[in-house]
Amino acid sequence: MRTELGEVIQHRAAISEVLRAIANSPHDLQPMLDTILDSATRLCRAEVGGFRLCEQEGLRLVAVTGHTSWSPPKLLEHSSYIGQFAAGRLPVHIPDLATHELYRRGDPYMLNTVNVGGFRTLLTVPMVKDEEVIGLLIVARTRLQPFTDFEIELVTDFAAEAAIALEITRRERQYREAQMGLAHANRLATIGQLTASVAHELKQPLSAAAMGGDASLRWLTRDPPDIEEAQRSVEHVINNIKRACDVIDRIHGLVRKNAPRMERLDINDVIIEVITLSQSEALKNDVTVRTQLTDHLPRIRGDRVQLQHVMLNLIINAIQAMSGLADGKRELHINTGIIESEGVRIAVRDSGPGLSAETLQRLFEPFYTTKPHGMGMGLSICRSIIEAHGGRLWATRYAPQGALFQFTIPAT
Ligand SMILES: Nc1ncnc2c1ncn2[C@@H]1O[C@H](COP(=O)(O)OP(=O)(O)OP(=O)(O)O)[C@@H](O)[C@H]1O
Ligand SMILES: [Mg+2]
Repeated sequence: MRTELGEVIQHRAAISEVLRAIANSPHDLQPMLDTILDSATRLCRAEVGGFRLCEQEGLRLVAVTGHTSWSPPKLLEHSSYIGQFAAGRLPVHIPDLATHELYRRGDPYMLNTVNVGGFRTLLTVPMVKDEEVIGLLIVARTRLQPFTDFEIELVTDFAAEAAIALEITRRERQYREAQMGLAHANRLATIGQLTASVAHELKQPLSAAAMGGDASLRWLTRDPPDIEEAQRSVEHVINNIKRACDVIDRIHGLVRKNAPRMERLDINDVIIEVITLSQSEALKNDVTVRTQLTDHLPRIRGDRVQLQHVMLNLIINAIQAMSGLADGKRELHINTGIIESEGVRIAVRDSGPGLSAETLQRLFEPFYTTKPHGMGMGLSICRSIIEAHGGRLWATRYAPQGALFQFTIPAT
């Protein structure tokens, strides 16, 4: 009775450890499986434990624990005895492998398990989801000692937990992929709105380069040729081509579908790059851009492209809001600073019509838009990006006129 109570307490401790592993990294399966396997093996005093997941080609070994010099095959065919145990959907307990029928019949993998692996007692428990076997939890002993009913029950519980963990990571991954796909589509749409400006941004350095080329030709065909001046013109050409390449690189960076990459960033750099991209758009709409970027801000950790995406959305929203103004100044203010307890603060303010009570309440909702061709996804994506960076994004009215969007990102 006393030992059973002790076992129950240990079991509960193990479950909370698993739950912690799930909470800590809901998208990362490995630590969860490792935690579950460690607990299962330890609590039922087995020497070795393993997880195999069902794939089309067979059962793939995804986690192992314990001490053994034997290295089991990474992939086991569905026709192997382990594969057949899994297909049977029920726990299989073999108290003595050496007297089992499969061993006597000379099943190659069973012979291997006993003669090379040195195992005597085995327990396998399938993981089942929606009536379908998705994997198998295996524990084994090198000594001849049957598992107790309590131990079998324990391993069955752990296999069920592992099935839940698998499902959680699968959903989390799907959700992330959907979100990333959506963000990418929104980015393409946002940049699509800038095409005219981007073309302009490219045309400038390219025409300057062409002019530089003409000039250098003239210097060279002079009699006598002026090599020094020609050289200067060629340098001018090169610099302008580099500028055009920078623009292309920046656009390419935003358009490419990349996995997120966290790095240490100076938020001011990120902002300056986006302002360069949106400059012509502002000009076209008679908008003056004023920046006040605080020097020596603490660095943040973030994904450059995602943060540029946020800035781009806020800037385009502001320009679009002001483009409808019949009169009055059209000013876009961008500034950065610090909020003591929160990190770096970025503010984007316009002198547009501002936010109505309804808009103020709903603007971060997906698909909320007041624009004839809007998707209404811009701000909801911005918010999820900022929150994924550990910060917050909010909007307020700005007196006497306009809207103010601010976000924070923790300093590193
Ligand atoms: N600076 C602003 N001034 C006034 N209203 C704004 C401003 N920014 C956003 N809004 C309001 O919030 C709504 C939602 O903005 P959001 O960026 O999410 O979508 P959208 O701009 O309408 O479409 P898109 O998906 O193309 O970005 C806008 O339709 C607009 O009504
Ligand atoms: Mg928008």
